[in-house]
Amino acid sequence: MPEHNLVVNGVRLSVESLGEGPRAILFIHGFPLDRSIWRPQMAALDGWWRIAPDLRGMGRSEAPDDGYSMATYAEDLAGVLQALGVGQVVLCGLSMGGYMAFECLRRWPERVTGLVLMDTRAEPDPPEGRAGRDAMIALVRQEGAGAVAETMLPRLLRPGTWTERPGLPEQVRAMMAAMPVAGVAGALAAMRDRPDSRALLPSLGRLPSLVLVGEEDRLTPPEVGRAMAEAIPGAEFEVIAGAGHLPTLEQPDRTTNRLRRFLDRVSWGPV
Ligand code: MLT
Repeated sequence: MPEHNLVVNGVRLSVESLGEGPRAILFIHGFPLDRSIWRPQMAALDGWWRIAPDLRGMGRSEAPDDGYSMATYAEDLAGVLQALGVGQVVLCGLSMGGYMAFECLRRWPERVTGLVLMDTRAEPDPPEGRAGRDAMIALVRQEGAGAVAETMLPRLLRPGTWTERPGLPEQVRAMMAAMPVAGVAGALAAMRDRPDSRALLPSLGRLPSLVLVGEEDRLTPPEVGRAMAEAIPGAEFEVIAGAGHLPTLEQPDRTTNRLRRFLDRVSWGPV
């Protein structure tokens, strides 16, 4: 897949870009993952300009020691779009990528023509969640990303995935274990300190929106997604059967087909 190395906000970001405009979709991965979680959708959604960056500190992108916040990630994403010459875009964020999509909408709403929120939530971390982030930051600093991978893996995939897709747990484990410590610690701090996005939801009625969630997602269960969809005027909501927190990989065809159905109805304004 065509890979671009773009220097944005002083950091080198690795970005996959397939197809061309004007209909563009920006895939924003979750934590502690990389753009490969979108591989099935990148391959299948022809007719769209598909753009999937590795966020700073993850995947093949550079991992600076500091500069991690939702604001910085959102500005990085704006920089990616500018560097590629993309005008307007559908945002598609999974989990932490959804937190970033909210930040993008606060910062540059005029560039967004549609929204897909996958396995994510609008609420900030509660106090015990913030403490959990600090414990995880200590863990990654002391024991490395492999220890975080061991902790996270059982929460990300539904139990049935281990028997039905035996190669997938190892693929996801390897992806997580390869993350630079600075990027993992930075992302955890950024998630810990992220703003409450609930007030944004009622204002999103101008956008075609889709909320998707894996049926057996334990991190952001279907009821969380349903409540979020109900708060966005006109949003579509769908549960992906047979998936946990990573429907893009656990149920790639179902996820891609649902995305395509949504994208087919996204109206496209002047670019
Ligand atoms: C993710 O999948 O991006 C993270 O698990 C989200 C989170 O920890 O809040």
